[in-house]
Amino acid sequence: MQPVQAPFPATRFRRARKSQAMRDLVRENTLTPADFIWPVFVRDGEGVSEPIPSMPGVNRLSVDNIVKAAKEAHSLGIPAICLFPYTDPAKKTKDCAEAWNPDNLSNTATRAIKDAVPEMLVMTDVALDPYNIDGHDGFVEDGVIVNDRTVEALVKQALSQADAGADIIGPSDMMDGRIGAMRSALEAEGHQNVLLLSYSAKYASSFYGPFRDAVGASGALKGDKKTYQMDPANSDEALRLIARDLAEGADMVMVKPGMPYLDICRRVKDTFGAPTYAYQVSGEYAMIAGAGQNGWVDGEKVMMESLMCFKRAGCDGILTYFAPEASRLLNN
Ligand code: PBG
Repeated sequence: MQPVQAPFPATRFRRARKSQAMRDLVRENTLTPADFIWPVFVRDGEGVSEPIPSMPGVNRLSVDNIVKAAKEAHSLGIPAICLFPYTDPAKKTKDCAEAWNPDNLSNTATRAIKDAVPEMLVMTDVALDPYNIDGHDGFVEDGVIVNDRTVEALVKQALSQADAGADIIGPSDMMDGRIGAMRSALEAEGHQNVLLLSYSAKYASSFYGPFRDAVGASGALKGDKKTYQMDPANSDEALRLIARDLAEGADMVMVKPGMPYLDICRRVKDTFGAPTYAYQVSGEYAMIAGAGQNGWVDGEKVMMESLMCFKRAGCDGILTYFAPEASRLLNN
């Protein structure tokens, strides 16, 4: 028997796309400046704004300029800023002691921001790479990145950041057991209300190249990070890592990089329903900003599309170097 064929399409999806107002009404996801965490690079000096060639439009800022940037971000409606220090090579050592120096760049910038704009949330990064003569996130002994001794150092680093006033601590090191160790140390030291945003599903990615230039780790790094960061081929492992970190006391979890890993974001959000963030990393930024500058794509439109897609994939927020630029467009 022939199926009955109506003289018109049974469903006209195009009706709901006929005008901007209609499209706005049926839109499933929204993007606002409140979705952003803005990663910034801090360096020493005063009045310094130093361009990073592999990240066109991004600068390393001295603390006074970071404070100005935080004020601007606050006025744009961005709730959080994330600090990454560019450490003077002379301060990189085997024991990484600069990582928990109460007066290191990250802690100095945290205090300055909390002083000038108390409402701005400050997130800090826990990992030894900016301070390590070997460029790795953990201590290197006989060519091996050691886990448990690194975790002890990371705990000291996290406590120094909490003491400086960090609201959110972001362990990006991928050592095992660090979330539990940091959570119990924070509890013991009176920092019950400091959040841990764990870089739980962090892949050994080639998209981090420009970041390593930005923090001055490219030259220092010996070998790769594959014994602690994840294999890009894996997905179930990400869920096991997230389950582990939530059980150890993480408040929020991250998938990193972002755009090539949206399937992971969706699985994580569906499985745990926890506050889920993606990091649109330096290499993703460089591709969009670089192609935009060359006129090969419409940079603004590609930027906004890429950010909306994180929301569609289930992310509650995005760490992105585009935060101020995107917020300016969203506010207009
Ligand atoms: C290091 C760290 C990295 C990034 C954030 N924290 C680089 C790495 O793991 O080598 C990458 C961020 C980016 O590429 O934008 N602990």
